[in-house]
This record gives sequence, C-alpha cells and structure tokens, in this order.
Amino acid sequence: MKHCADYEALLKICESRRSTRTFDSRPVPEEIIERIKKIAHTSPYASGRKKWDMIVVADREALAAMRMAVDRRTGEIQDKIRPDMKGSFDAYARNFSFFATAPAVIALVFRAAPSLSLMLPEPDGGILQWERDNYVKSISCVAMLVLLAAESLGLAGCYVTGALIAENEIGRLIRIPQGWSIGALIPIGYKAGGNNDD
Ligand SMILES: Cc1cc2nc3c(=O)[nH]c(=O)nc-3n(C[C@H](O)[C@H](O)[C@H](O)COP(=O)(O)O)c2cc1C
Repeated sequence: MKHCADYEALLKICESRRSTRTFDSRPVPEEIIERIKKIAHTSPYASGRKKWDMIVVADREALAAMRMAVDRRTGEIQDKIRPDMKGSFDAYARNFSFFATAPAVIALVFRAAPSLSLMLPEPDGGILQWERDNYVKSISCVAMLVLLAAESLGLAGCYVTGALIAENEIGRLIRIPQGWSIGALIPIGYKAGGNNDD
C-alpha cells in the first residue's frame, strides 16, 4: 500500500504540472533551487557519462541581455520567413523569450564527450551524431525532473528550447565552458496569480 501512496503522490504532481509562462516577482529561495538540483541529479544518463550541469541565472541584467540576444536572432530569422508564414512565425516566436521574465532560469548544459567514437580508428559522422543525441536525450530527462521537482515545491516552470536559436550568444553571456552546449532553459518561479505561496 505504501507504493500506492507514492504512485498517487507522483501522479498528482505529474497531473498538476503545466507549462507556465507568467510568474510573479517573488524570488526563488536558494534552498528551493538546491532541492530541485537534488532531484535533478537522480536523472538517468547515457553512456555512463554524466556530463551535464545546471547554471542558475537570476540576475535581471543578465536575463535582459539573454532576451535581447533571442529577440535579435528572432528578428534575423523573421526577415527570411516566407511572407505567408510571417504571422505563424510571430505567434511561434512569442514563446522564445518570455523566459527572461521569470525570477530564475535554470540553464541545462552538457558536453558531448566522445564515447563509442573513441573506440573507432577514424571519426564517423553518424556515430558522432548518435553520441550528441545521447547527451540531448540525457538532458531531456534532467529537464523533466526539474519541472516535476519545481511543481512538487509549489513552483511552476516551462521547458524552453526556442531561445536556443541564440544558443551561442546565450552561452557567452552565461559563460558556459568551451565545448559545452545548452540543452534547455527552464524558467521557474511562482505562478502569476496562483496560490502556490508556501
Ligand atoms: C523539447 C521541448 C521544447 C519546448 N520549448 C518551448 C519553448 O521554446 N517555449 C515555450 O513556451 N514552450 C516550450 N515547450 C513547452 C511546450 O509548449 C509544452 O510542454 C506543451 O505545449 C504541452 O503543454 P504542458 O507542458 O502544459 O503540458 C517545450 C517543450 C518541450 C518538450
């Protein structure tokens, strides 16, 4: 019966999680971030290589600079969009930069370290892609745990990859090490107008 209670608790968290894009201004306490990280670190990972990390950005200036980088890139892409698709693109891209309004943004970063390719006599493009995909899949597991952990703690968030159209610029702004990539940005905070205030 204990397992039943665990299942029900998990189901409740999963069912109540929804992508949230508007937050109130309350900061996310450090201990909440630590608790989210603790759950994130239980994530499975491919190829026996846990090459990922979390960078938490709460500085308003840094977030504004990240937003500007995304907006700039969005503008560049907008110029190339087919005329009949401009409206659709605008609606789509609206969800690329809202992350910067959250009190905290967790950047999930990874390094696509070689595994199988180390065993080959020469580089193989297909294997390199497979290796990179494995890291992206691993970071996706982390992202899900971050979202569920946030939900369990009375916060809300959203899995954001749209902003990664400006991945290089964002990487420079948050100073990710050379050779690392950003898998996702996860804005988190207390839902605007919500009752999740404990
Ligand atoms: C890989 C991935 C990337 C996503 N990127 C974005 C994004 O850039 N912007 C956004 O607002 N939502 C993004 N989402 C959230 C989806 O829009 C959302 O999960 C989906 O509409 C289902 O809604 P729900 O999360 O409330 O169940 C992303 C979700 C996933 C899984």
